[in-house]
Amino acid sequence: MTSTHRAGARFSGIDDVQKRLATTGYLSDEAIATVVHLADRLNKPLLVEGPAGVGKTELAKAISRTLDYELIRLQCYEGVDETKALYEWNYKKQLLRIQADQGSSWDVLSEDIFSEPFLLERPVLKAIRSKQPCVLLIDEIDKLDFEAEALLLEVLSDWQVTIPEMGTLVAQELPFVVLTSNNERELSEALKRRCLYLYLDYPSTEREKQIVLQRVPGITETLAEQVVRVVKSIRDLELKKAPSIAETLDWASTLLHLSITTLDEEAIRRTMPVLLKFQTDLEKAREHLKIKGS
Ligand SMILES: Nc1ncnc2c1ncn2[C@@H]1O[C@H](COP(=O)(O)OP(=O)(O)O)[C@@H](O)[C@H]1O
Ligand SMILES: [Mg+2]
Repeated sequence: MTSTHRAGARFSGIDDVQKRLATTGYLSDEAIATVVHLADRLNKPLLVEGPAGVGKTELAKAISRTLDYELIRLQCYEGVDETKALYEWNYKKQLLRIQADQGSSWDVLSEDIFSEPFLLERPVLKAIRSKQPCVLLIDEIDKLDFEAEALLLEVLSDWQVTIPEMGTLVAQELPFVVLTSNNERELSEALKRRCLYLYLDYPSTEREKQIVLQRVPGITETLAEQVVRVVKSIRDLELKKAPSIAETLDWASTLLHLSITTLDEEAIRRTMPVLLKFQTDLEKAREHLKIKGS
């Protein structure tokens, strides 16, 4: 069965991964590039876990962009089941077909209504059947319940989907699979075993500064440096919701829009709500930065 699967060698090595992700605007580091390289070579799904806003989803998008593969995305939430992840029959169309039929036997009719034209493909089946290689992003898998997770596990281990009325559909081209998790619940060991694991944490100050310079055009290096330093010191506090890269970028853009060129006390006080979204967090940060409340 695996004979139809091509060997992965879409990147020539770790450096190549890092360079090519950077051309899409995604700044990685050696740890990230190494796991992506291995996922490519070993044809294994990549499970990326970490706090919200550190670039998990963006990594999958960057991989699809640099490989020029279609990105097929399953956004997980409670209530995602087979019919949302794999496939569903188009009941309305089936009903119309049955109503329009005058004299066919049930055997003929059922063969007809359980065939391709009546099939609604959902993301995972779409990725499995895609003739072109693609990136399959299963985003926020920790939001799925256990049963739905098990369903995906089956697909990821066999690269096939069985539709009782149609038979087993085997992937011709293995998708590059990226799963992300915000760690809201523990994933099953079986799932983890199938995947290569990457824990994506907040970036180093240097990398975050580079990300800011890349994503907020027009910002000066000095201000970018100040921004990431303040963010880093705030992250070390015990907060309800520590600011992520997403918030750092929002903050940097805000400062730029307000034509603030240096981070003094007044500037921080005015703009802090972009960075922190809980009153208690704001108070802690103000105290830490020795800023008087407004
Ligand atoms: N390494 C990176 N290089 C460039 N931009 C990044 C990087 N990591 C995160 N970002 C930016 O930060 C924001 C949040 O990233 P996202 O992938 O949505 O986070 P997550 O999926 O982990 O919650 C996005 O705007 C993304 O462009
Ligand atoms: Mg995400």
